[in-house]
Amino acid sequence: MTASGLLAEIGDVGRDPKRGGYSRHAFELPEQELRAWFGERALGLGLDVDTDHNGNIWAWWGAPGPDAVVTGSHLDSVPGGGAFDGPLGVVSALSAVETLRERGFRPGKPFAVVVFAEEEGGRFGVPCLGSRLLTGTIDADKARGLRDADGVTFAEAAAKSGFDPSLAGPDPERLGLIGRFLELHVEQGRGLIDLGSPVAVGSTVIAHGRWRFSFTGQGNHAGATLIEDRADPMLPAARTVTAARRIAKSRRAARATVGRLVPTPGGTNVIASTVDLWLDARVPGDGTRALVDDIVDAARQAAKEEGCRVEVTRESYSGDVVFDDALRRDLGEWLGGPPELPTGAGHDAAILAGFVPAGMLYVRNPTGISHSPEEFAEAGDVEAGANALTDVLERLAR
Ligand code: GLV
Ligand code: MN
Ligand code: MN
Repeated sequence: MTASGLLAEIGDVGRDPKRGGYSRHAFELPEQELRAWFGERALGLGLDVDTDHNGNIWAWWGAPGPDAVVTGSHLDSVPGGGAFDGPLGVVSALSAVETLRERGFRPGKPFAVVVFAEEEGGRFGVPCLGSRLLTGTIDADKARGLRDADGVTFAEAAAKSGFDPSLAGPDPERLGLIGRFLELHVEQGRGLIDLGSPVAVGSTVIAHGRWRFSFTGQGNHAGATLIEDRADPMLPAARTVTAARRIAKSRRAARATVGRLVPTPGGTNVIASTVDLWLDARVPGDGTRALVDDIVDAARQAAKEEGCRVEVTRESYSGDVVFDDALRRDLGEWLGGPPELPTGAGHDAAILAGFVPAGMLYVRNPTGISHSPEEFAEAGDVEAGANALTDVLERLAR
């Protein structure tokens, strides 16, 4: 089946009733449904499916072994995300296997399609959790203790859906099988619109991280408390949001975002007791620390002026990544010289790049919008991406 046909098959799974788009979070029902769907599709292609101790699904064409060619992406989403971020890489990989079979191709190397778990960190807060666990770039105990918005831990959610969380953690044996990893992904910006090309080869991923700011004040009555008597944690939280924008704007190519802010208890006539906000900060090179330090200073100052306290915790961080030079060169040559694109988005391929030769292909997104229901790819570009993936996998796995 074509990649578009496969995408259409999951078009009703996990629709978000509030924002539109999709909410497919780790171990929740829609994501479980997608896992089952992937397993069935992979079995239908004659692949052997197994799930590793970190919740990543592997579908092997032939026996697992060293120097494997591995391709894939993720099926989870951000809240109210688009249809393509993650699933496009998975359906393109499945479609590539089918096409290669039709061509009579038999891989000369071990070959696998992988679906990584919790790539967005949409439920437990840390992005690329499955690939971080696999590579040991997150401590397994820390991962087990991560909590979702309802206080459920990763360990509890994993156990409930049939995984043994005590086994989660670095998997050097499996990692050691990967010879080269290639992830196809929808583009998440305007790069390919401007370049007039349906497909690009990934060059770099900029450093990025997430920080949690917890402001504590005095919960109180919205009518009975005079303004001068307040310690309202919403004030320093709001000032932190604007400080993040102001400070990021003053640095080249820096991005700082507050996309999530939770007052407790969250009542219209209640001065909140606490406000938690999450900062996503990204700066090419090593500028992220200085950017975040300045935002933290602004938050502390704002908290002090309001008689509040603030605690800051780093939840994740990944440095700059340059994808494998030799693989980039090969991809470029085999695909007839498509453009190379840097990205500000994080990916499992970028986590793996610290351990194995990894690369990416991007497919044009005519809206230039992502992490939103407006994310899109034209059917013709989806097929161009799947064809490019098929051709390079054939060469890699010869
Ligand atoms: C994942 O898409 C990220 O860049 O946050
Ligand atoms: Mn994403
Ligand atoms: Mn993605």
